[in-house]
Amino acid sequence: MTLVNSADEPFSSDSDELIAVALANEVAKRRNFAIISHPDAGKTTLTEKLLLYGGAIQQAGAVKARGEQRKVTSDWMELEKQRGISITSTVLQFDYSGKTINLLDTPGHQDFSEDTYRTLAAADNAVMLEDAAKGLEPQTRKLFEVCRMRKIPIFTFINKMDRPGQEPLSLLDEIEAELGLLTWAVNWPIGSGEQFRGVIDRHSKDVVLFTRGERGKQSTERHLKLDDLELKELVEDELLNKALEELELLEIAGAEMDLELIHSGELTPVFFGSAMTNFGVRPFLDAFLQMAQGPIGRPSSDGHIDPLRSNFSGFVFKLQANMDPKHRDRVAFVRVCSGRFEKDMTVRHARTGKAIRLSRPQKIFGQDRAVVENAYPGDVIGLNNPGMFAIGDTLYTGKRIEYEGIPCFSPEIFSWLRNPNPSSFKNFRKGVNELREEGAVQILYDTDQSKRDPILAAVGQLQLEVVQHRLENEYGVETRLEPMGYQVARWVSGGWISLEKIGRIFNCKTVQDAWQRPVLLFKNNWNLNQLQEDHPSLELCAVAPVVSGVDPITL
Ligand code: G4P
Repeated sequence: MTLVNSADEPFSSDSDELIAVALANEVAKRRNFAIISHPDAGKTTLTEKLLLYGGAIQQAGAVKARGEQRKVTSDWMELEKQRGISITSTVLQFDYSGKTINLLDTPGHQDFSEDTYRTLAAADNAVMLEDAAKGLEPQTRKLFEVCRMRKIPIFTFINKMDRPGQEPLSLLDEIEAELGLLTWAVNWPIGSGEQFRGVIDRHSKDVVLFTRGERGKQSTERHLKLDDLELKELVEDELLNKALEELELLEIAGAEMDLELIHSGELTPVFFGSAMTNFGVRPFLDAFLQMAQGPIGRPSSDGHIDPLRSNFSGFVFKLQANMDPKHRDRVAFVRVCSGRFEKDMTVRHARTGKAIRLSRPQKIFGQDRAVVENAYPGDVIGLNNPGMFAIGDTLYTGKRIEYEGIPCFSPEIFSWLRNPNPSSFKNFRKGVNELREEGAVQILYDTDQSKRDPILAAVGQLQLEVVQHRLENEYGVETRLEPMGYQVARWVSGGWISLEKIGRIFNCKTVQDAWQRPVLLFKNNWNLNQLQEDHPSLELCAVAPVVSGVDPITL
């Protein structure tokens, strides 16, 4: 990274240079990541322990307690309460070991993985959390694919080592074979389940012994050298020898540690531990901070934007309405990409060209909010959004730039949304348009203009139920869902022209998205494959290409 001002020219004054140095210091301190995992792998537990080490919470259980609080402050989250799930996701910032860490929290339930996809667009690193007994699970694989598209570094934490699990070597093999990722074990477990004694740090060759802490409290950690005689008293020979043999095998046959490969998303450092009992969480956090990449530059309409560019820029990756029903507010979450953000600054909104004064920026920690005075690349700020921001929008100062938007991922269930009461059409329309803007659900439209009812397209059934619930509670319209029976969507890369060229197609329905692009819906993968075999020249895409500078159609 280089220090440049907005015009890429030398600094004109000492104060400019001081500002640039301050920015460089803040950027160097920042680390940001999201956790990807399958439900139940222990994401909430790990998050809580990380916050505990960061001093952001005082006792374990606080994350869940916060969840409880959230359930009472937000009425549309009534559904969360009923189902015992977490839908909302926010950003948790904490300081640890001289670094400022932004943990981009994602919803726990897989039906809301669209939200997770978008959050990953704002993340510089990902932590892939696995249950040692289960290994790779479907949701982790899906989210991993999103990380791979962005080539972000992935750090693997194999959790629940205090319980009987799969052999550590086969867990690594699975990651290599199924995800095509090289692995490098940062530490290696000694025993598992009841016989879990701790880990050997691969670099220092120290044995880190763990004692089970009181539930929720930080465990005490003891570091012993491998040749320390006391070790023999504390760890059974058999367990230690097995771990050492396996480590030797890794030295001979495994990949080598290579920071460049980690940063290009080709090699994953692997950590073994147990979030619940605090085994290995601190060593993970320490090593993660050394290896994770800082805020990265991003491609834009004006080329690559360095985080040290003096002008502020950022993009909206998530919108959330009515987090606090008392205020009926809408919050746009902005990932800061370059420069220093200051409260009350006036920025340009790239899509509309409008100037906006950001007078009440917020830092959001779980459900708590505080006004932000400054923010730096890698941070996330919450802006009050009176309907102006859409997902993917760029905000900037100085020369105009626009970041690449955030792609839409293939939905898996499709349903007509019927409004049985014509007199409430105005509210119905408002609700559908706003929820689409917020990204709560994707909306597709029939190509036949006379059919005005929108098609809700989602990753999971619960996502549809939330939309229905919110339409009723926030917009006062009762709606009916009519499932369409399709399971797969593909965007046609060549647009309407290429679709016309191949003539009539069978076993799929053609609809359009909000940007009037053709989308094909299939009942199953078999029908999709058949179409591709019949028309190999038709290019289909599971991820909608990003559109910029064009307003979407509304209901
Ligand atoms: P999630 O957010 O990924 O869905 O998972 P969460 O942290 O809620 O953890 C799922 C379950 O796994 C919880 O048990 C949790 O206590 C347990 N767990 C997490 N980490 C570990 C670990 O390292 N070892 C063991 N043995 N268990 C772990 P639960 O019974 O569903 O909830 P609770 O009653 O413990 O809160």
